[in-house]
Formats: sequence, structure tokens, C-alpha cells
Amino acid sequence: MIERIGIVGGGQMGAGIAEVAAKAGTHVLVREINAELVEMSLTRITASLDKAVDRGKLESADREAALGRLDYTTDLADMADRQLVIEAVTEDEGLKTEIFRALDEAIEDPDAILASNTSSIPITRLAAVTSRPEHVVGMHFFNPVPVMALMELVTTVRSDPAVEARAEAYATDVLGKTVIRAKDRGGFVVNMLLVPYLLGAVRMYEAGIATAEDIDTGMKLGANHPMGPLTLCDFIGLDTMKLVADVLFDEYKEPLYASPPLLTRMVEAGLLGRKTGEGFYTYT
Ligand code: 3HC
Repeated sequence: MIERIGIVGGGQMGAGIAEVAAKAGTHVLVREINAELVEMSLTRITASLDKAVDRGKLESADREAALGRLDYTTDLADMADRQLVIEAVTEDEGLKTEIFRALDEAIEDPDAILASNTSSIPITRLAAVTSRPEHVVGMHFFNPVPVMALMELVTTVRSDPAVEARAEAYATDVLGKTVIRAKDRGGFVVNMLLVPYLLGAVRMYEAGIATAEDIDTGMKLGANHPMGPLTLCDFIGLDTMKLVADVLFDEYKEPLYASPPLLTRMVEAGLLGRKTGEGFYTYT
């Protein structure tokens, strides 16, 4: 049974996974790179737990218990006793491979599972830098993790079916997620379908076919989507959107995955969406 997990990277996704796991009764150790980022990550989790209490989704006592199961470190070597570690750092292949090498060195349990929350980098490449590729899978969560019901389990030609089954059981039985399985191909299931749609909305806006508000209202009221595509781009982060699009384009060489010039320029200008206060919309 998995009782101790590690999360590498306490940002938007890492904090969300840590929160859900701690609420579910698992001890969670989050690694961030310095004290300031530890503080930001903890603030993010506390705010989300507070929101859950305010919305009547969580008892105050359970909020305290979840926080009591959460610890931080700045040293990857502290992951030594973890049974499952989920890497959730920025979509940078060099950084991720460096982390997988270090985790492989640090983790003592030969049965431990090494997972990545990457939305775009092949799991096979991360597995290949470890001495235990059969223990490496993708566990791709969706933002906001406490609210979104799905997890994509990404399997490789090297992953062991028993390891896949343990990762799936943890996500379903403990975290309460619905799991779908995908092979290790760019975009897996959801992003392979979602990203071309979002890029299409950026192209439509860039071509001046409709305003951002009308494009978003169109998809909210005409297709019952909870958020319009440009709001969703801002929510995901335009830098992440571009990174994912670039990886998909590189994988399939199909124009539908190419980053529209406007998206590229906005990222270069530092307009990254909600996280910087400005993207297709302005946030206060
Ligand atoms: N903890 C627990 N529950 C929470 C919560 C929290 N921190 N915050 C909100 N909730 C609950 C609320 O209580 C509410 O529950 P109810 O429906 O039972 O009342 C529900 O979640 C919705 O919350 P809100 O009312 O605050 O918010 P909205 O109704 O405005 O929905 C949203 C917000 C869930 C973000 C919605 O707009 C949405 O689903 N948007 C689309 C998100 C999406 O597509 N995400 C995927 C992005 S792609 C991705 O992540 C992949 C990556 O690889 C790029």
C-alpha cells in the first residue's frame, strides 16, 4: 500500500497533486528549490484547502489533518523513503531528466514508482535515464487538480504491468480520480485533442474573426464548455500552451499543432495569462 509519496515541484500542478494526496491520507513530501518557493507553494495549498472548507467540501479538522501530512524539503535526497514520487516541474526535458537521474539514485525502495506529470515530454525518455525503466510511468493530472476528476496513466513499452496497476489503483482508490490509459505518444489523449482546439481559437482571434469575449461566449453557451478557449489558455498559462504545442508539432509535424505567431509573441512579451496578470484578458 502506498503511504508515503513525494512530489517534485510545488507549483500549480505539484501543489494540486500534493493537496489531493494529503487530503486522501497519504504523507506527502514536496520538494521545492528554495525557501521562497516553499512558502509560495504552501500558501497555494492552504488557500485551496480554505476554499474547499468555505465551499463545504472539507471539514476544518480534515484541513488541519491534510496540512499535518504535508512536508517540504529543498533536497531531492530526502525522497529516499518514498514509495511513489511524482515529478511536476516545468516542461523542460533537461531539467526533468536531471531529476529522474537524481531520484533513481536517491530512492531506496526497489518497488518504488517514479512518475511524471508531464503533458508533453515522452515518458520513455525519462525512464531511459534511470536504472529502473519498468518502474516509470506518466501520471498526468488536470488543472485544477482538486476539482478535475481525470488522471491519464501513460504507459511505455518498458513499463511493468504490475507497476501500472499499482499507480492506477492509487489514483482511483486513494485519490478518487477516474483513470484513462494512454500510450506514450505526444499529447496522450486529452492534449492531443484539446491543444489543436485551443490553438484554433488563438488563430481565430488573430485573424480578427471575432473578439476574445465572443469566441469564449460562443464555446461556453454553444458547446456547454465550462470555460471559453482563450480563458482556458490564460488559465493553463500561455508559456505552457506554447511548450506543449511545440512538442506536439515536433512529434507529429502537423500544422494543426503549430504555435500561432500571436501565441509566440505573447509568450516572448511575458504575457503568460493569469499567472502574470495579463494574457488574452487582464486579471487583477
Ligand atoms: N477544492 C475542492 N473543491 C473545489 C475547490 C477546491 N480548491 N475549488 C472549487 N471547488 C469545487 C466547487 O465547490 C464547485 O463544486 P460544485 O460544482 O459541487 O459546487 C466546483 O469545484 C467548481 O468550482 P467554482 O464554482 O469555484 O468554479 P467554476 O464553476 O467557475 O469552475 C473550473 C472553475 C473548475 C476551473 C471550471 O471553469 C473548469 O472546469 N474549467 C476548465 C478547466 C480545464 O479544462 N482544465 C484542464 C486544463 S488542461 C490541463 O490541465 C492539461 C495540461 O497538460 C495543459
